[in-house]
Amino acid sequence: MQKIPLSKCFINPEVEEAALRAIRSGQYILGKESQAFEAELAAHTGTATAVLGSSWTMIVYLLHQLQGVGPGDEILVPSHTAFPSMEPLMHLGARPVFADIDDTYVMDLAHVESLITPRTVGIIGVHLYGHPIDNDRLLAIAKKHNLWVIEDCAQAQGAKYKGKTVGSMGNFGAFSFFPSKNLTVLGDGGCICTNNTQMADRLRMLRNHGRQGKYDHEFAGYNVRFNEINAAIGRVMLKHLDGFNEVRRKIAAHYDTRLKGIVQTPPRREWATPVYHMYVVRAEKRDDLQKFLKEKNIETGIHYPKPNHLQPAVAGLFPYVPKLPRTEQAVKEILSLPIHGEMTLEAADAVCNTIAEFYGRKAG
Ligand SMILES: Cc1ncc(COP(=O)(O)O)c(C=O)c1O
Repeated sequence: MQKIPLSKCFINPEVEEAALRAIRSGQYILGKESQAFEAELAAHTGTATAVLGSSWTMIVYLLHQLQGVGPGDEILVPSHTAFPSMEPLMHLGARPVFADIDDTYVMDLAHVESLITPRTVGIIGVHLYGHPIDNDRLLAIAKKHNLWVIEDCAQAQGAKYKGKTVGSMGNFGAFSFFPSKNLTVLGDGGCICTNNTQMADRLRMLRNHGRQGKYDHEFAGYNVRFNEINAAIGRVMLKHLDGFNEVRRKIAAHYDTRLKGIVQTPPRREWATPVYHMYVVRAEKRDDLQKFLKEKNIETGIHYPKPNHLQPAVAGLFPYVPKLPRTEQAVKEILSLPIHGEMTLEAADAVCNTIAEFYGRKAG
């Protein structure tokens, strides 16, 4: 059987031509393509502005600096997320405080509220796997306790919560354009979408050596800039994003129907329009199933096999080891199945049939 990949980058002549256009333009960093990409990203998300940076991790690091994040601060994050969600705050001496998950794999907001202390300054709400968190409830908790909210939209670009695009509801929405993401620039990249134009202006300066014009440096900054080739590519990808997300939803619906009763398919809240960055099932004998699928040339993943609260990088931050039973159970059972914006129903059928074969069953 031909390999069925876990994810796949879209490339067509339009993408190649965009890269060539940028190469031939003679301007390579933060030029017209980057400016247009920022405007288009803000319009797509529904925010006043967007600020590009070299990755999610670096642009959020700069944002935390501007927010004044520092030693003694506590920031609520899910343990069940990509490790970068908490890296920037750790570099500034703040402490991640880990919340457990609900059945849609995003932070359990009742647990989040119970973890708030006088040292808590903010919440990083991760729309994991492309399924939005309950933003109304998250924002109500933040308002009650006077906390900021960063929506981590790295896996959820284009997802909607009650019809509103994620990244437009918290104080800031943070996006990643890493090659596996729903919107990629075929390289590294990230951005912050926000209605706070003052912060955005300072962020633009901080990413570019703290300068206003060419030689006026108001403060010491960094080089977290964005390049024109990736911006030109990203602009083409953005035009296709909603279409690709629709394909992902169709594949997910197909998996839902055919895998029902064989593995545990991912639940979806009625207010969510997810974008299935990952399609994650829970499966008995998960490791054996993964091995069987690999033998049949079907690529799968485990996102993530080790909870972040148990990573060596955070040991020593706490006088105790946090206990998150639902996260600790989920990581033993989860399996990410192939899904991407160009996947066919035939490929999804092959995945379903192979999973059914493993369990000696027939797919629905
Ligand atoms: C949920 C989440 N947050 C943050 C990141 C970090 O993004 P980047 O690789 O652009 O720094 C990723 C990507 O790995 C992610 O999946």
